[in-house]
Parts: sequence; C-alpha cells; structure tokens
Amino acid sequence: MNKHEAAQLVTGGTSNWVKEEGEGGASVNIALCKYWGKRNEELNLPVTSSLSIGLPGLGAQTKVRPAARDAFFVNGTPMDSAAKAAARVFDFIRLFTREPVEVKTESTVPLAAGLASSASGFAALTKALNDGFGWNLSGRGLSILARLGSGSASRSVFDGFVRWQAGEREDGMDSFAEPLEAVWPDLRMGLLLLSDKAKPIGSREAMKRTVETSLLYRQWPARVKEDLAGLQEAVSRRDLTQLGRHAEQNALGMHATMLESWPPVMYWLPESVQAIHGVHALRESGVPVYFTMDAGPNVKLIFTAAHESAVRSAFPEVRIIAPFG
Ligand code: DP6
Repeated sequence: MNKHEAAQLVTGGTSNWVKEEGEGGASVNIALCKYWGKRNEELNLPVTSSLSIGLPGLGAQTKVRPAARDAFFVNGTPMDSAAKAAARVFDFIRLFTREPVEVKTESTVPLAAGLASSASGFAALTKALNDGFGWNLSGRGLSILARLGSGSASRSVFDGFVRWQAGEREDGMDSFAEPLEAVWPDLRMGLLLLSDKAKPIGSREAMKRTVETSLLYRQWPARVKEDLAGLQEAVSRRDLTQLGRHAEQNALGMHATMLESWPPVMYWLPESVQAIHGVHALRESGVPVYFTMDAGPNVKLIFTAAHESAVRSAFPEVRIIAPFG
C-alpha cells in the first residue's frame, strides 16, 4: 500500500471543498517514550509505540483554501515553493487533491526551539483539510492521516498525554494515536533552548541510519516496552519519580542507539552535556527534576509546580510550560 492509497482509504477518496476555507489547530508534543525507527518508511509506520505530552500554547493554526496556484505562508511570510518545508506540505496535500491550494499557518513554535514544528504543522494541516473538505473524520482518522505527513504528527492531533499505538497491519490502519484519560495539573515542562545552529542531520535520516546500522537498536523495543508500561503507571499515579526515570532513560536509550550508528549521529553540544550535569546536580541536591531530549541539542526538563523556583534558579533561561493549564 502506498501513501496515496492509505489516504484514500481514510477519506473515502472525496476532496471537494465544502466551504470557502478550512481551518484547524494543533499543539507540539514532547515524547516521553520516543518514536525512533520505522517499519515502513512510506507510511511512517513505527517499530514501536510511543507516548507524549502536548504543550498547549505552542503550535500551529492553519487555514487552507482553493487557489489559482499553490502557496504556503508561515506567519504571513511566503515560503519558497522549492524549500523543503513547502515541498513536504504540498506532497502531503497532493495525497488528497490535484487542485492548487493556499496554506496559511500561524505558528507559535519558536523557530529555533528544537521542538518538532512538523508535528503540530501536519496535525493542524490535516484538521484544516478535514474541515475544508468536510470529511468529518474521527480523531483516529485524523491521526492516521497526520502520520502520513510526519510520524510524530499522529500524536499532535490530541492534547494532554497521548499514546501512539504502533499497530501491526501492513496498511497502517491500526497505527494511530489516542489520548490517555489522565490529567496532571501540577506537571511542568521546562524548555532549555541551547542552540539555534542547524542540526547536522535530520531526524528522518538519522532514524533510518540507526535502524540500518546500530546493533544497540535491537534492544530498543525492549526499552520501549518497559518505559511505556512504567510511564502509564506513573501517569495514573502522578508519580514524578517514576515518570522522570522512564522518560530520561528512554531519551538516553534513544541517543545511545544513535551514537552507536555508523556514521555516528551525535546531536549533543557541550551546552547539552552541561545542562544534563546541571539536572543531575539539582536532583542530587534533592530537587526532583528529570530531562528528555529529541533529535537535537536542546534539553527539556520534567518536574512539578512545587519545584518551579528551584528549577528557575538553576536554569534562569528556562521557559516553563504547564501542559494542563
Ligand atoms: C526524536 O516524527 O519528525 O522527535 O516520521 O520521519 O517525520 P518522521 O519523523 P518525526 O520524528 C520524531 C522523532 C523524535 C521522537 C518523537 O517525537 O517521538
């Protein structure tokens, strides 16, 4: 099954505008248990399930409408149609319609934040197309479609804690995300924006290289199994020690598989390592704070409201987000 067929299967193949303009919004998400490695590159089908938390207030609001020619604007600025981001957007739109489309996105994701803006971007675009074409899809349908744009976008369709079930089917129709019931009002995420330098290698390519060349990657499904179970239990009991341990170990496990790939993939900068030491020092001093990292040098802190001031004095530049408002 190719991408186009998968898209048709979900939408029923209809793509007639039912309104002048479709609109949709979505937040970025941070994986506490990572999606790293695909069993099908065309359909972005993952090797393992993953679990994330949405960051409200950081994301994309997107409008789509039929137009004379394809155009893509981000925060009012036209994007060069040859640029990678625009090419990915229109490759995605071509799964549904051959007609030219104008896409306008307002993004509140800081450009250099090392947050996957593609996750909120493709989730918002999917919702906008669903609105414009009147598909009336369920969250499951939206998640499957968003996945075809970018794997992690399958989780950005929902807010809060979200689990993306890997699924087993060849056509990926059982590979979608679902929100967990749980809320955790005191939970905090801290963003440490350590570098805005271009990444040495994109996550898509890094993931592929890891799957193909890392022996450690063979252990990855076992790591995920343990972390997913531990994280879900931690979420249901609001147990930060357990949540933090599994999130941190999972992130380090993912980076270990990259480091052992060939050619090696290393996203860490000296500033990242310094921040990790800072987290560990703070933890040793009695402040329960943990970290996670994605395919980039920035570090994301995990803690609770009671320790906000301790975290802020150790990391004055931190941007703190309350995922549950
Ligand atoms: C490290 O979703 O960006 O952030 O499916 O190729 O678009 P594609 O990859 P993408 O990968 C995200 C990887 C990660 C971990 C995660 O978000 O789970």
